[in-house]
Amino acid sequence: MAYETLIVETEDHVALIKLNRPEALNALNSQLLGELAEALKAAEENEKVRCVVITGSEKAFAAGADIKEMADKSFVDMFMSDFFGTETEQLLKMRKPVIAAVAGYALGGGCELAMMCDFIIAADNAKFGQPEINLGVVAGIGGTQRLTRFVGKSKSMEMHLTGRFMDADEAERSGLVSRVVPAKKLMDEAMAAAQKIAEKSLLTTMAVKEAVNRSYEMTLREGLLFERRLFHSLFATEDQSEGMNAFLEKREAQFRGK
Ligand code: HXC
Repeated sequence: MAYETLIVETEDHVALIKLNRPEALNALNSQLLGELAEALKAAEENEKVRCVVITGSEKAFAAGADIKEMADKSFVDMFMSDFFGTETEQLLKMRKPVIAAVAGYALGGGCELAMMCDFIIAADNAKFGQPEINLGVVAGIGGTQRLTRFVGKSKSMEMHLTGRFMDADEAERSGLVSRVVPAKKLMDEAMAAAQKIAEKSLLTTMAVKEAVNRSYEMTLREGLLFERRLFHSLFATEDQSEGMNAFLEKREAQFRGK
């Protein structure tokens, strides 16, 4: 499938999706988000793919929703189209792991897109921010909710109220990103992490994702029970038997996702 705003490559069980609107610092417009939803759906349905990486350019992961596209819209336009609600649903529906590899600006919708992924690896030149306040609006695809869960109320409130950017070190210190790597090594590191995930049982990585995501939705007691039952249920799989026997036989496990 050919895309105008994305470059998609699938290799060794990893789908790499590169946002590609360099003239607008990868600003998210309807076309790009529509294509992203299609590419994600294709990756989810492709039996070969076991992990997805979303990235941008060295200068920008994405500098936010496209201000040119939004500027003249009315409330009715935004409400009736459920602006960017529908377009981002596919990312939230993904059962396969999705990594955000972020270099440069991840602002507004760009920061929100990265936070919708399962974890973020940041280049040392990454800058995160929710500068919507400067445009007379608020974040619209999760910023006030997800950033607050990642970094806590005080820092999230400051970021949203002042619009200031956070650099990569601060993002790592405050739990927004899993780790920071030199900009030149970002893609190697992100692809290596994706390959590592792709070597595991897809069945198990999908189960991990469900369990961790439940921690946002459930009480601790319910979450612990969910996790324990999930753990028990994996003893019905061939991959559990293969994983444990491979350890005992001192060999590499060959997972089949069964
Ligand atoms: C449209 C954008 C854009 C955006 C950059 N560009 N960000 N176009 N929407 N969000 C375009 C510029 O207009 C310019 O095009 C080109 O990209 C290069 O940008 P410059 O500003 O010249 O680059 P630079 O001076 O390096 O500054 C980089 C920047 C700045 C700090 C990232 O571009 C910036 O502040 N961008 C806006 C960031 C922002 O406010 N994001 C939040 C958007 S609202 P031309 O044609 O002029 O050369 C949002 C809401 C999400 O995200 C909720 C959705 C439902």
